[in-house]
Amino acid sequence: MDETTYHRAVLVEEIMELLACKSGDTVIDGTLGSGGHAKRILDATAPGGRLIGIDRDPEARSAAIENLKEYGDRLLISDSRHEELTQVMNSFEVPSVDGFLLDLGISSRHVDSAERGFSFRQDGPLDMRMDPSSELTAADVLNDYSEEELSRTFLEWGEERWAKRISQFVVERRGKTPYESTEQLVETVKAAIPAGARRAAGGHPARRVFQALRIEVNDEIVGLADTVRAATDALNTGGRGAIISYHSLEDRVVKWTLRELKQDQKVAIITKRPIRPSEEEVEGNSRARSALLRVWEKVS
Ligand SMILES: C[S@@+](CC[C@H](N)C(=O)[O-])C[C@H]1O[C@@H](n2cnc3c(N)ncnc32)[C@H](O)[C@@H]1O
Repeated sequence: MDETTYHRAVLVEEIMELLACKSGDTVIDGTLGSGGHAKRILDATAPGGRLIGIDRDPEARSAAIENLKEYGDRLLISDSRHEELTQVMNSFEVPSVDGFLLDLGISSRHVDSAERGFSFRQDGPLDMRMDPSSELTAADVLNDYSEEELSRTFLEWGEERWAKRISQFVVERRGKTPYESTEQLVETVKAAIPAGARRAAGGHPARRVFQALRIEVNDEIVGLADTVRAATDALNTGGRGAIISYHSLEDRVVKWTLRELKQDQKVAIITKRPIRPSEEEVEGNSRARSALLRVWEKVS
């Protein structure tokens, strides 16, 4: 598969069925990526439908432009964050939409490019920025945050039970040489977590710390509830929203925000429990393993 298309979109059939897009609909994809979901939505909304694709990563936007060029001016692309949904709609003079999608987190392109710094399996610079023009990098967090701030970050965003000890080890190590590479961080995490606990936990020992840093650097959780509310305001009555989360922190925010909106009688929740990918999908795409899909409908 070539560079622009190898990210495989997750839960596509389920999303297409539940979003139920029709000809002429306008839909927002707030995490356009390389356009896997967007392509299916553009096909389902032909003729005449439009898709607003938002992504803050320039490489993702270039891949999407290449992959979706056949759709011409039915595709509108924005380099904003999905948290800025309302401004994006105003800038395209779109007053309301019929569908909304978020496929959260990072793409296979991010994980597989060692130089972006997202991978604990390949050595690279400690970057982790989705938007390379933003200021804070993972190295800045590791080198500049206080021990307490590091511990809070690892605990809150990584649910890492060894957060305190790992932060102590980070502070000790950076006193000798500042952090530059992902491998240096992996070594610190391995040294900080006792071998028995590492074995018992299974999986890669640095997975939670990398998740925490990525969330901190990209400010991934803080604005999510606002996006769900703004998307609901943007939907026409009967319009549907869908969000795929990849860890419990994200899913909790989506679940609680939808509950509040339901209490306010603004939405009906279509998925009582989150939808998970089939075994077959996970076999063909390991990135789908932790996916949780929630769908709602605007009622008033
Ligand atoms: C999992 S990928 C989306 C893949 C896409 N559904 C596809 O089929 O190709 C998530 C994308 O969302 C982008 N992203 C994550 N958080 C964002 C945010 N707050 N605002 C805008 N884009 C964001 C990332 O840069 C990444 O390209």
